Amino acid sequence: MPNGGGTLSGIEGETHDMKAASILDYRELARRKLPPFLYEYIDGGSYAEVTLRRNVDDLADVQLRQRVMCDVSGIDLTTTLFGAEQRLPIALGPVGLSGMYARRGEVQAARAANAAGIPFTLSTVGVCPLAEVAAATGTPFWFQLYVVKDRNFVRHMIAEAKAAGCTVMLLTVDLPVPGSRYRDVHSGLSGASGFAGSIRRGLQAALHPRWAWDVGLMGKPHTLGNVAPMLAGDTGLEDFLAWMGGNFDQTVTWESLTWLRSEWGGPIVVKGILDPADARLAVEHGADGIVVSNHGGRQLDGVPSTAQALPAIAEAVGDKLSVLVDGGVRSGLDVVRMLALGAKGVLLGRAWAYALAANGQAGVSHAIQLIEAEMRVALALTGVTNIKDIDHNILVRDRKFG
Ligand SMILES: Cc1cc2nc3c(=O)[nH]c(=O)nc-3n(C[C@H](O)[C@H](O)[C@H](O)COP(=O)(O)O)c2cc1C
Repeated sequence: MPNGGGTLSGIEGETHDMKAASILDYRELARRKLPPFLYEYIDGGSYAEVTLRRNVDDLADVQLRQRVMCDVSGIDLTTTLFGAEQRLPIALGPVGLSGMYARRGEVQAARAANAAGIPFTLSTVGVCPLAEVAAATGTPFWFQLYVVKDRNFVRHMIAEAKAAGCTVMLLTVDLPVPGSRYRDVHSGLSGASGFAGSIRRGLQAALHPRWAWDVGLMGKPHTLGNVAPMLAGDTGLEDFLAWMGGNFDQTVTWESLTWLRSEWGGPIVVKGILDPADARLAVEHGADGIVVSNHGGRQLDGVPSTAQALPAIAEAVGDKLSVLVDGGVRSGLDVVRMLALGAKGVLLGRAWAYALAANGQAGVSHAIQLIEAEMRVALALTGVTNIKDIDHNILVRDRKFG
């Protein structure tokens, strides 16, 4: 397909195909391609999804100042995160189960990130294990760690991440217990146990033959590669989800960060900060960075959006560590808004997962291109030529975002 874009085949009865022009188009393409139990898993949030909606709506509410008659013929989007220069101030954030959205999905997404000159983050609960992604890409990537109860296994994963050449570790701390996601129950991903669940998901797969061929048949093994050694014998999707609920370590504290730092040795970024007090503790405990995140509205419903939480957190820590952010980012404009609110870098979550589901590596590459193009326009029309100069001065001041 030219330019790697996905196509939106017309609604029933129409014959034309439409090229994806935005991340929201990729969302629709993903909805059509995936069995509902997977689409709803990506798209959904916890409980009433108030925070999920807030993430998107609050970003859309951030108003930019249009400035004119500046020479904007040369736009520089390059930045440096954790000692490495990258072409754009974005990274693909950790998205679990990505190998269920497209065949060996983590490898495809990592290749797209490499080609774009930005980092890819492999989740602890990715389908492809660390060694597979490393062998397939040959380029350093980031690793996201969930601390499980068995500390020896945590040590083992850290050793694997080092062996794979990972450069940065994201420690996700906002999931000591899983928030309830109603859509997963309704779709048959969770709640329908054993045989009944398998039948429901099997029927959905049968109605989505492109996915059934690409992933269901050709994308095996469907294991969570990094944690598969712990699961010995249990291979069904529902076994993994149950395992996650039962094995994440709820005793993790800031002292655990000290332990992890000594085991890992490289930069550690604490993901899941939403309060300035926790951001200050991250500084005190030597974190190299934080991700201001509410897990994409998938954990504690009712907490503020990340766009709302970010300015106070950025102000609290200053330049003592690198402030990254995610949540609700669906365009290059949203990336620029987050930078203006105080972030140094922005993680994409659903944005790349939708594109991966729709059209694999080519879809993710195209999604990154779309975001880059939108960023260039946003800079040009706010009168800024270097991404490092983006700050609150490009925003129309309003009370909501300080
Ligand atoms: C389907 C899905 C799976 C996710 N899996 C993980 C994960 O394994 N580890 C993690 O730290 N965050 C995970 N997240 C959260 C993302 O890293 C990120 O915080 C969130 O998606 C940002 O919100 P956005 O998708 O609205 O941009 C996941 C998010 C989604 C949508």
